[in-house]
Amino acid sequence: MRYSAKDIENVIYRYLPKEEGYASDVIKAMNYAFKAGGKRLRPMMMKLCFDMFAGTDFAESDRLDNTCDATGMKNSGIECFMAAIEMIHTYSLIHDDLPALDNDDLRRGMPTVHKAYGEDIAILAGDGLLNYAFETAAEAFAVRPGDVAVEKAYTVLASKPGIYGMIGGQTLDVVKTGRSVNRDELKYIYENKTSALIECAMMAGALLGGAKDEAVDTIRQVANCVGMAFQVQDDILDVEGDEAVLGKPVLSDEKNEKYTYVTIYGLDKDKAYVRAKSDEANSLLKGLEVSDEEARTELIELINLLVDRDR
Ligand code: IPE
Ligand code: IPE
Ligand code: MG
Ligand code: MG
Ligand code: MG
Repeated sequence: MRYSAKDIENVIYRYLPKEEGYASDVIKAMNYAFKAGGKRLRPMMMKLCFDMFAGTDFAESDRLDNTCDATGMKNSGIECFMAAIEMIHTYSLIHDDLPALDNDDLRRGMPTVHKAYGEDIAILAGDGLLNYAFETAAEAFAVRPGDVAVEKAYTVLASKPGIYGMIGGQTLDVVKTGRSVNRDELKYIYENKTSALIECAMMAGALLGGAKDEAVDTIRQVANCVGMAFQVQDDILDVEGDEAVLGKPVLSDEKNEKYTYVTIYGLDKDKAYVRAKSDEANSLLKGLEVSDEEARTELIELINLLVDRDR
């Protein structure tokens, strides 16, 4: 693969706030959750989408495999957006694990933030990461002043995690806890609680790379399929996975009486669905005109790897 999780971390860790001052308790909890691990898929997909369209428009120093220091590199705005999407994702995990929501004790192989720092600080750490994401991504305005692509990417970053996206999906998910859901409701939950952030990542990457609106819409459809496959695989792992490998508890959905694709369709149909949705994503990707063919191949490879993921 072009980028490992470590390559991504080398970029995004540079944007974390310093653990100092009177707010250091919340900042420590934010950084604890952020650095605990994780697959770094959203910033990785964002960067691959950027690469696909960016071609030679941006300096080679934007390539993550070059080790550059923070001050020396020409910035296209992509890196602060990569950090921002991972901050938003990490916040969503902290809040998802809270006692009032899924009440889980383990995340990314570590005690959840409310276990390590208390519920009050965990709530604030989630809020802190969400807000800091926008402070971080706003750096792109200074790097590319007046650039409409940055404005559009920022708008996507603001909306997809919100009530017409991730929060909307999480809302129906919690409202329906312990109650049956119909197929349309379940599709709404998955498209919003999970696909929305993946759409956010890939669309913002494509926009910053210079993709035209039509291509960005295709990228949105690709990400929608990837997200659906990703959440169904997450449900499968909740039943069949190994806690030590997953880094989070198994049977959390059963504990919380959640209706999932596993409850409604069963494991065999789900596995076929994950493959089919990933194939659909790949064929949409193949129809795009891109300037970095290798980046497209990498993205397809990544989508295929996720089909059989065990974490
Ligand atoms: C977990 O996302 C939340 C879901 C949308 C299922 P990831 O599986 O990407 O979590 P990390 O970032 O690797 O911990
Ligand atoms: C939640 O889905 C997705 C988020 C918005 C965090 P889950 O509740 O299934 O995610 P996990 O299994 O706890 O990671
Ligand atoms: Mg949940
Ligand atoms: Mg959960
Ligand atoms: Mg889950």
